[in-house]
Formats: sequence, structure tokens, C-alpha cells
Amino acid sequence: MTFPYTRLRRMRRSEFSRRLMREHVLTANDLIYPVFVHELPGRAPVGSMPGIERLSIDELLKVAEEASALRVPALALFAVTAPEAKSLDGVAAWDDEGLMQRAVRALKQRFPELGVITDVALDPYTSHGQDGLIDDSGYVVNDETVEALMQQALSHARAGADVVAPSDMMDGRIGAIREALEAAGHIHTRILSYAAKYASSFYGPFRDAVGSAGALGKGNKYSYQMDPANSDEALREVALDLDEGADMIMVKPGLPYLDIVRRVKDEFGVPTFAYQVSGEYAMLKAAARNGWLDERACALEALVAFKRAGCDGILTYFALDAARWLRDAHD
Ligand code: PBG
Repeated sequence: MTFPYTRLRRMRRSEFSRRLMREHVLTANDLIYPVFVHELPGRAPVGSMPGIERLSIDELLKVAEEASALRVPALALFAVTAPEAKSLDGVAAWDDEGLMQRAVRALKQRFPELGVITDVALDPYTSHGQDGLIDDSGYVVNDETVEALMQQALSHARAGADVVAPSDMMDGRIGAIREALEAAGHIHTRILSYAAKYASSFYGPFRDAVGSAGALGKGNKYSYQMDPANSDEALREVALDLDEGADMIMVKPGLPYLDIVRRVKDEFGVPTFAYQVSGEYAMLKAAARNGWLDERACALEALVAFKRAGCDGILTYFALDAARWLRDAHD
């Protein structure tokens, strides 16, 4: 039976029936808040990410308190390494007294219930800004890098991280990290793999935030991060990471890659996350600040789109604001 008997607008006519047939709902449970931790006292704004600040460990604890109160399940930590602590081999990454490790211990001590996810990659620690170790030609060498990432992940686990999240895209790192964690008795430490991470230009503001942009210079990450033109390859990456022991997988960036999220979710049906990255945040903020877009409406629309595409959760710099907006909408 077709028109006029079928009128899809009937159900859209009133708020009550729109609510009844709504397929996806965004809640604070879906949000992970990425935070930048620095060695300096207090807070320092990130120029290209209005509203985002690098935080001392003390300030991080205040943000953690806010996140907990808003029922945001987890924070994703990124360390901003002081230039003098960077080196060719990124050795500061697995220092048990390093910034990330101290931040994790402080968080887990004060907020044991709040999930703590750590970034496993060498770029904040290397003088060249690459996510791994390089040879004389500047090529990022895989297997030696995996050894380093294993040390870094173990060090995070010792500090008490709930989830380690390798964001480097080396081959075989998930298996190596899983094996090392098991061998050391960290059987409960989860792995969130950045399985389909693209060589994206949307990471620009993040590289400013962690201070890897200058180090990287004109360098690029094309030899390990994925080509934005590919999608079958993403499924192969995810299959391998799951086989190697990943508990959750991530697609990154977010909005321009929702087709990948949907394919991954349909194919594997595993806990699937996406990262609404710094450039996506910066675009929305910039337009909102110019009065060109309604920030709250557009951010919430983007976030529910992630859910519709199949995400179980979203890493987003809007996490705290979104949790507040959602809370206030119910008041
Ligand atoms: C690097 C890393 C990047 C991001 C998270 N981890 C940048 C890169 O790969 O160069 C980007 C996150 C964002 O843009 O918000 N290991």
C-alpha cells in the first residue's frame, strides 16, 4: 500500500512519536574524553582547539572529577613531553616515573572507578615526531618499534592503566603487547586498538597540542597510517588486530570515515569506537565561534551520527560539554 495510505510524515509530526521511533540514543555512557597532560604547572590553552587545555596532573584530577560527576566512563590520556625529554629512540615513553605513568597512578588512586585509557605510540617522545624508531633513511622500522611499544604498554599497565590504546599502526604490535601483558600477569588490561587509523590531515591541531608538529616538520606518516582512499584494507587491519587479541577496535578519524565504522561493525560485531579527531573539533568550534553553526546542535548531531554508524563509543573533545548538554536536556 503506498501513498496516500503510507505517509512517513505522520510519525514525524509530534515530539512523542518522534521519540518513540528514535533508533539511536546518545548518552554520557558513549563518551570518552581525550585529555592532554603536561609537565608544567596549571593549564595551557591549545590555540587551534578552543576550550581544550593541556593540564598538569593536579588539574587533570579536577577534570577527572568533573568527568566522573557527568558519568563519562573514561578518559584517554596523551602526554605532552618536554622538548628536552624527547630523543631519537623515545626512551622516555617507558619510564615508570614518566609523566603518563605518574598521571595514571594519580588518577587511579583518586578515581578508581573512572576508566583510564593510555596512548601507546612514540610520537610525543621522539625528536623526529614519528610514532616509531627510524633508520638512517628516516623509515620507521616495524619490529624494533614493536619492541619499544611493548615496553611502553607494560609500563602503562604497571602504572594501573585499565586500557592501553596503541595508535601507531605498526604490524604485529597488538599480538606482541597482548603476549607481554599476559606474561607479566596483566591479564585484565584491555587493548583498544587503533586498528583503522588513516594518514589524515585532520590531526593537525592534535600535533600542536602534544608538540609533535614541529618535530615532524614536513615529514609524514604515509608508510604506516592508512591511505584515506582505502576501505577493504581497514577490514584486514581490524581482522588481524582482533586475531592478535584486541578487545576493542577504533576507526580514526571519525565523521569522514563513518562508512568504515559501519563496515567494521557489520563484519565483526565487536566493541567498535571512533575518534572524532582534533581537526573535526576545530572545524566545528571555528564555525560556531563565527556564528556560522550552532555548536551544541551540530556537535550532538555529529555524535549521534557516530552511534547510527555503529559506534559503541566515541572519543571526542566535546565529551564533557556533550554530557552536560544531555544532562541539562533532561532537567
Ligand atoms: C599519534 C596520535 C595522533 C592522534 C592521536 N594519536 C596524531 C597522529 O597520528 O599524528 C590524533 C588525535 C587527534 O587529532 O585528535 N600517535
